This record gives sequence, structure tokens and C-alpha cells, in this order.
Amino acid sequence: MEYAARITGTGSAFPKKCIANQELAERLSKIGIETNDLWIQTRTGIRERRFAKTDEPSEYNSSLGLKAAQKALEMAGKSPLDIDQIICATCSPDTLIPSTACWIQYKMGAKNAWAVDINAACSGFLYGLSMAEQYLQSGKVNVSLVIGSEVLSPFLNFRDRSSCILFGDGAGAAVVERVSRDSERRILYTHLLSDGNLWKLFYIPAGGSKLEVTPGRYFQNLHKMKMNGKEIFKVAVRTLTEFARKALRENGLLVSDLDWFVPHQANLRIIEAVAQRLGFPMEKTLINLDRYGNTSAATVPTALDEGIRTGKIKPGDTILLDTFGAGLTYGSILLRW
Ligand code: UT7
Repeated sequence: MEYAARITGTGSAFPKKCIANQELAERLSKIGIETNDLWIQTRTGIRERRFAKTDEPSEYNSSLGLKAAQKALEMAGKSPLDIDQIICATCSPDTLIPSTACWIQYKMGAKNAWAVDINAACSGFLYGLSMAEQYLQSGKVNVSLVIGSEVLSPFLNFRDRSSCILFGDGAGAAVVERVSRDSERRILYTHLLSDGNLWKLFYIPAGGSKLEVTPGRYFQNLHKMKMNGKEIFKVAVRTLTEFARKALRENGLLVSDLDWFVPHQANLRIIEAVAQRLGFPMEKTLINLDRYGNTSAATVPTALDEGIRTGKIKPGDTILLDTFGAGLTYGSILLRW
């Protein structure tokens, strides 16, 4: 390990259209599905989310990813030609082929980069960051662009009120640079784990090579998300807490040494339960799900970006990123900004 990796710029982008709970409830009521603002807010903490216009090119997944990436590059003082590697974490790509990362590379004119998508669902940004760190540490890459970008709204089953109220569209990005090993400001620790045995808790049955979307399957909504919310909730609280404790323990840190906690934004009650178990104050936990819902791979980079741009996160702050997602996938990353 010759070098270390440091995030030097972050950015976010969201579609224009904001759908408040009330508006979503009105839309659902037209197809006979009952929900309301009070239920959604008290059970999830979500007030509104953004849905992309899928016939609007500026709101394609790759376009949101591109905008987030351009802002991250601007913060880092880098140009597209400086990028060696683009890793786009997404489970809602523009197209199955080519990858969203290749679309972004083409639109951005990042001619010197190689580009690849990864799918670790909501943990995707952490998986991408961890992979980028390896290339940067080895010296193979100087500048990496890691993006978490999702347009999930086309995959929501609006007949399933327990899942369709949770998700939104958006993108977050980070420029990650090679720095010297003794740099104070860097990624300090990464830990990833998956449990494919729990695939059934959250999946999309059709649309892959296993089950084509036929008209019959289309009308059964098999190309839409299927989720066991109650079970995921329990696994999420347990694993987010375990991963946070392990990260602190393995780095000889106490909860009080952390300046900010940036968990995956799936449900405010999950985040509160984890913060309570860790004994970590909610005031130091970054939350954006109230305004954007669960944007899957984009939750952590957008919450991180917001913390940086609002001045909450200061240079030298120690930050813990912590996620879970479909797969199931888990990850935690400690970094000093
Ligand atoms: O990135 C990871 C993705 N997924 C997650 O993280 C999901 C984690 N799970 C959750 O966030 C929660 O389990 C949900 C928000 C999905 C559900 O909340 P809950 O408190 O676990 O509710 P529940 O499933 O126990 O349902 C309680 C009641 C049920 O009615 P009955 O059977 O008690 O009459 C549901 O039918 O709430 C009903 N319900 C709703 N009511 C109004 C479920 N969804 C809604 C809704 N509006 N949208």
C-alpha cells in the first residue's frame, strides 16, 4: 500500500419535480391505494421526494450523475480530462448496455478514463468508494470519480403502498484523489460484506435474463420492486449498529471521536434506533431523507455533499458512512474530510 485516497470534492443533483406526501397520496388514491401524509411522515420521516421525468433527457440517470459529478469536479478543482476512473453505483441504469458510467464518461468528455457500473443497490456508493481506494492506494490511478446515481421511480410498484412511498430519484458524486500515506485527511477504513442468502427481502423479479418481461409478467408488476419491509427494518438496525461498532473498535475510536454519522437514508426510525444503540447524538447525524426519500446508492453521497456545502462538516472532521441495501449488501467507511 503505497498511497492513500482522499475525497477532494462532492456534488449532488436531483430532478426538478418534487412530490410531497399529500400529492403522492392523491395520485395513489386514484388507483384505489390509500395512504396519507401523517402515516408516511410518522412511520418513515419522509415529507417529499423527487421523481425524474423519464422522457426528459436532462433527467436521465446518467444526466443526474453527470451534474453531480461536474459539481464534485468543480469543488476539487479538476477537469474531466484529469479523471482516470469512473465508477458509477446504480441499480437503475439508463440502459443495460452500455453502462451508465460510459454514458457519463461520453457526456462529460472524460476521454482519459475507464468507466464501469457496479450494482450493490443502496450500499453501492460505499462499494464504489472502497474499490476506488484500492486503485488509488496501489498508485494505478491518480483521480477517481465515484458516483451513486438512481432513477428508481420507474421500478416502483404504485400498488404496493409500503414500498412506493419510500423511494426517490437523485445522484451524488465524489472526486477521490491519490494522496501520500501519511496524509491526515483521507479514507481511514473500509469494510464491506454481502449476504446473498437474504436476496428475497428486496428484489425485482423480472427484467433480467432469468425472467424476461412478457405482457403477462408486466401486468403482474413483476418488473417492479418487491420488498419485505418489516424484515429489512430489523436487519438494517442490527447490521448498521454492528458495522458502526466494528469500525470504531478496529480504529481504536470512541463514539465521541466521531464528528458526523452518515447512514443510509431509508427510514428515519431505522436511523434513530441505530443512533440510540450507538449512543450517538441525532444532531450529528446527517439526514436528507425528509426531502428526498430513499435514493438508494445516492443517499450517502448526497447527504455527505449537503453536510459539506452547508458548512456543517469542517476540514479535519471524522465521518462514519454506514449502509445496507438489497443483496443484501452492507458497508462502512471511516474518513477524515
Ligand atoms: O434501502 C432499503 C430499502 N427498504 C427499507 O429500508 C425498508 C425498511 N422498512 C421500513 O421502512 C418499514 O417497515 C415500512 C415503512 C416499509 C413499513 O413500516 P412499518 O411500521 O413496518 O409498517 P407495517 O408494515 O408494520 O404496517 C403497519 C400498517 C399495516 O396495516 P395493518 O395491517 O396494521 O392494518 C400496513 O398495511 O400500516 C399499513 N401501511 C400503510 N398505511 C398507510 C403500510 N404502508 C402504508 C402506507 N400508508 N403507505
